Amino acid sequence: RSAPPATLVIFGASGDLTRRKLLPAVESLARHNRLPSQFALVGVARTPMADEQFAASALGDRTLSDKAQLQGGIRYVSGGYDDPDTYKRLAETLDELDAVRGTSGNRLFYLSTPAEAFEPVIHGLAGAGLNRAREGSFARLVIEKPYGRDLASARELDAVVHGVFDEPQVFRIDHYLGKDTVQNVLALRFANSIFQPIWDRSWVDHVQITVAETLGVGTRGGFYEHAGAMRDIVQNHVLQVLALALMEPPASFEAEGLRNEKVKLLQAIRLPTNRDIADLAVRGQYTRGGTRDDLMAGYREEVGVDPLSRTETYAAMRLNVDNWRWAGVPFYVRTGKRLPARVTEVALQFQRPPHLPIPQDQLTGLEADALILRIQPNEGISLRFGAKVPGHSFRVRTASMDFSYEQTFAEESPEAYERLLLDALLGDPTLFIRSDEVEHSWRIVDPIIEHWASDNSPIPTYEAASWGPADADRLIGRSGRAWKNSI
Ligand code: BG6
Repeated sequence: RSAPPATLVIFGASGDLTRRKLLPAVESLARHNRLPSQFALVGVARTPMADEQFAASALGDRTLSDKAQLQGGIRYVSGGYDDPDTYKRLAETLDELDAVRGTSGNRLFYLSTPAEAFEPVIHGLAGAGLNRAREGSFARLVIEKPYGRDLASARELDAVVHGVFDEPQVFRIDHYLGKDTVQNVLALRFANSIFQPIWDRSWVDHVQITVAETLGVGTRGGFYEHAGAMRDIVQNHVLQVLALALMEPPASFEAEGLRNEKVKLLQAIRLPTNRDIADLAVRGQYTRGGTRDDLMAGYREEVGVDPLSRTETYAAMRLNVDNWRWAGVPFYVRTGKRLPARVTEVALQFQRPPHLPIPQDQLTGLEADALILRIQPNEGISLRFGAKVPGHSFRVRTASMDFSYEQTFAEESPEAYERLLLDALLGDPTLFIRSDEVEHSWRIVDPIIEHWASDNSPIPTYEAASWGPADADRLIGRSGRAWKNSI
């Protein structure tokens, strides 16, 4: 697969995401010959910068031959996002590139700015007529998260977007969907027959989804203060992974069929009510911690963070899915910064056998069977089950069968952003979020965020490099279960 002739326009070109993810993704696509010679890149941002300077950051330290494909096709337009002149100059640049690079009037506008700039940029594009492509060409809009900060603002943003672009032109990014291991949830479930029969309430005791990070908020304190773990990770990445893991089989992986199934699953998640939120959701904030050699600052000490901040850096929830397949099965999800390990995984724990023909004292070390989908790192899948311990007595202990991406496949996984950029250039919306998915996800997290905002009691804390607040253990412990921590 390689991209058609096109110009990629990145708004927020001098920002962190552009530097860390988008430019390396473009460069890697070029290096793997997935961009045609009729490709161009335009950066737009307020920070003044020369074309050459932007080109240097886009091309990194690649060798000259790798650069050749992109060289001569990189421009930079600096200007205010609410200044019509910025878009006039952008339109001229795009026309010029069509003429000199043969980009055929195809444009992919990528919004990688702070969310406040989404609306002015969309209006600016419309003001210059850039939202409509000429006959036979395309104009598409890629929007980064956060898509709103609650249901109401997500709808307002949608109204702005739909006032200017038609839904098929809109590509809302959740970079988790670009990860091979997230797509492998679909492969595991729907390209095999052996898992489907046990993928329901008759066999599954409960499911745990963990997105644990060891990093703190780093330099993003100012942004994170207004987000928190629920908005930053649960509303999007966690609920997307959950939807793929629990939805019904789609008839095909064609975009609308797949997205319809995700929406149906999100709709089936029981909405928390004020009465049960305290039992269903837990938040936490990291305090100073670690070891003497590696002491980590507390969240309130981070740059850009209010010393009295009440923003959660950890969130855990118990969810119920009210449908035929999952009725009665609890789903425990959690995410946090400054946890002891970086791990993203989906763990299905199966029910204990109805009867064990083995005495209890021969079962020490036997945990419930589990299937663990490791999204990252050590990408792969583990099946945990009981096996006879070698020896004269009949003792059973947990063993594991492991599939590792790295050991099994010689092929390399592309970075999530690389995959998604190529899909957007090709016009394939399968791995992008539809507007109704965004709405349903906000419906699930909004009541909890609102409840926390109105709760004046001190925010629970956890030490940096620990597995979250004690409340999280109580949340899952109430049903006699425990978090599966990898270390
Ligand atoms: C981003 C969040 O969406 O995902 C960050 O804003 C988080 O806070 C990041 O660190 C995690 O992504 P990944 O791909 O490193 O798991």
